[in-house]
Amino acid sequence: MLRKLIVTVGAAALTSLLGMAGVQAASIVNSNHDLTTGAITDVCVFCHTPHNTAAPATLPVPLWNRNAADTATFTMYSSTSLDMVIASQPQGVSAACLSCHDGVTAYDSLINQSGIVLPDVMGATDTKAVGRSGDLSDDHPISITYSVGTGTGQDPEFIAASVGHVGALPLFRAAGVTTGDGDQVECSTCHNVHDPAIDPFLRISNSASALCTTCHVK
Ligand code: HEC
Ligand code: HEC
Ligand code: HEC
Ligand code: HEC
Repeated sequence: MLRKLIVTVGAAALTSLLGMAGVQAASIVNSNHDLTTGAITDVCVFCHTPHNTAAPATLPVPLWNRNAADTATFTMYSSTSLDMVIASQPQGVSAACLSCHDGVTAYDSLINQSGIVLPDVMGATDTKAVGRSGDLSDDHPISITYSVGTGTGQDPEFIAASVGHVGALPLFRAAGVTTGDGDQVECSTCHNVHDPAIDPFLRISNSASALCTTCHVK
């Protein structure tokens, strides 16, 4: 834990030294996404494995090594002013995150186990378990099709997307779509799972709400 703290402080110092938001140079090693403990020293294995994953087409992330979340059904975000089309369940990358961030799926629920036993879970009272109790209704919408305009399924108060990105933020392909530019907002649109440089694993700094105003015209 002390090691992790030092790395975090170091990364923060580096970011301010460079004086630029969006410069990312930290490693997942020793971050909150480093689940290694004791004899288990492979950082990547809790999410990826080089061999013997399931068929790639069924997996949301390249060489993905995790089983689907134990939580069978999530309650998605809804509101009276939501315009864009939201999927009925988390898709792709977001579903991948929720295979830990639902609070109940064990960290060692792996496809290619490699003998790893780490049955801990995030826990239903951990605020970092954003999908705890299957509830995503109190979280920013994910698995939603980003579409700017005044038509059906569109909202005009957003910055237009270009080639699978809104500014520096990537959009992802919808489930089953294997080619073309992505148009879905997922967890990894705002977060970089590998890089703790901008806490908490953010793609860009949210200072002065810069992350929010990358998309929202507000
Ligand atoms: C906590 C889960 C997690 C861990 C641990 C993890 N990854 Fe990933 N990785 C993901 C997710 C989710 C994606 C897809 C979404 C994205 O790109 O943000 C991904 C995507 C990737 C990609 C393809 C996209 C890209 O960014 O190039 C590569 C390559 C990759 N990871 C390598 C690694 C390596 C190497 C390690 C270990 C040093 C590692 N990952 C550890 C979750 C993880
Ligand atoms: C293998 C399990 C696992 C997967 C998969 C996973 N995470 Fe995490 N994540 C963790 C753990 C463990 C923590 C630390 C929890 C704690 O401190 O209570 C964490 C913490 C975080 C934090 C908070 C960091 C902080 O310092 O406060 C964010 C943000 C996050 N994860 C985002 C993601 C996103 C986005 C994805 C998918 C792209 C993802 N995670 C996938 C295990 C995972
Ligand atoms: C629209 C951008 C956005 C999306 C999409 C998003 N997040 Fe976040 N997330 C943030 C920001 C900004 C913060 C830091 C502020 C906060 O904690 O409220 C954060 C914080 C977190 C934290 C830390 C919470 C805490 O209390 O410490 C976790 C864990 C997390 N996100 C996971 C996820 C997961 C998993 C998903 C997908 C289901 C997701 N996020 C989708 C922007 C986003
Ligand atoms: C990648 C683009 C993106 C980013 C970044 C982003 N949002 Fe959103 N946000 C969306 C989309 C898309 C919707 C759905 C809008 C709709 O359907 O009308 C949404 C919806 C919302 C809603 C609910 C609107 C409603 O009518 O129910 C709020 C509130 C919101 N976002 C706040 C934020 C905040 C705060 C941040 C920064 C932490 C943020 N968003 C970052 C894309 C984004």
